[in-house]
Amino acid sequence: MSIHEILEKPEFTKSDIVQLLSASGEDEKLLFKHAASVKEKSIGTTVYLRGLIEMSNVCAKDCLYCGIRKSNSRVNRYSLDEKEVMTAIEFAYKNRYGSVAIQSGEINSPAFTDKINQILKASKKLTNGEIGITLSCGEQSEETYRTWFESGAHRYLLRIESSTEELYSKIHPNDNSHNFSRRLNALRILKEIGYQVGTGVMVGLPFQTLEHLADDLLFMKDFDVDMCGMGPYIEHKDTPLYAYKDDLLPLNERFKLTLRMIATLRIMMKDINIVATTALQTIDKIGREKAIQIGANILMPNITPGKYRDSYALYENKPCTDENADDCKNCIDVRVHLVNHQVGYAVWGDSQHFKRKQKINKKS
Ligand code: 5AD
Ligand code: FES
Repeated sequence: MSIHEILEKPEFTKSDIVQLLSASGEDEKLLFKHAASVKEKSIGTTVYLRGLIEMSNVCAKDCLYCGIRKSNSRVNRYSLDEKEVMTAIEFAYKNRYGSVAIQSGEINSPAFTDKINQILKASKKLTNGEIGITLSCGEQSEETYRTWFESGAHRYLLRIESSTEELYSKIHPNDNSHNFSRRLNALRILKEIGYQVGTGVMVGLPFQTLEHLADDLLFMKDFDVDMCGMGPYIEHKDTPLYAYKDDLLPLNERFKLTLRMIATLRIMMKDINIVATTALQTIDKIGREKAIQIGANILMPNITPGKYRDSYALYENKPCTDENADDCKNCIDVRVHLVNHQVGYAVWGDSQHFKRKQKINKKS
């Protein structure tokens, strides 16, 4: 079947998706053009911001791909205190970002739960309930997720990393704290509590095939996610997966494959929020803008205080680590306009998909 014929179909099969993910030349252009028009028709050309606060790089986990894994002794560990986090939130509020995303290494402790809880309450107070808050703090107990939800967090990002259990177990240690079913269960609990739930995968991992990636997109559709963040896998020399660096696709291929994943997902899920991830910018200076052009609608400008940025290196050559939040603020608007989009300031920019589901639930 031609790409043209596939794009006409109301639903894609796994083999359709594999074909879309393999598209090159004119076929790839057709895919990108179609995804751009689907986005424009369903959610328009506004890009929403989430000021990204990398709160701590202390992590209890040991994912085999991640630069801040517990066993990497070469990382300078830091944790922002509550005041530093609040300063960043105030910056986002004053600059009309609309939302922030608080990300952290995974820590399960009453002190950590409480710290996030205090920050949530203080943020709502500081901004008269106006700032939107996404959390990305890994797997937590149902009770913790509920506490945070009740204190004002309304979106949660937890990447499945791979929806194929076999691949998941190749990129994580095989123990209780890196368990595929537990992760899946955490996603289910988040949804049940009422969060807008985001997931995602890394693209171009060792051992990963196009069939795995097609299954990842089908998983997102089936789970009915509200948001997605996908980025290219970028090898980090202080991690076990670095041993497979010679088996990887070249960086520019991983980059293009990520764009095809984003475009295909946009066609499959017309009104979800899709992030133009920082990892794309690591490979291509205007990588995030390219993602916006073909389907993404969310940017996460880094507003972590400058002095800590080098230490939050999940992968190498992360961009903007030598900048302050102000520098980034100035370039965002220009960059978004360059690709004929506009920034949605001072609004939450919630997932339209989530809102639509809520309306249907209310009616029935
Ligand atoms: N390359 C790309 N992305 C990575 N992440 C972690 N390590 C890497 C890497 N080496 C991603 C994971 C995680 C998110 C916070 O960062 O998908 O969920
Ligand atoms: Fe921290 Fe994976 S290494 S969650």
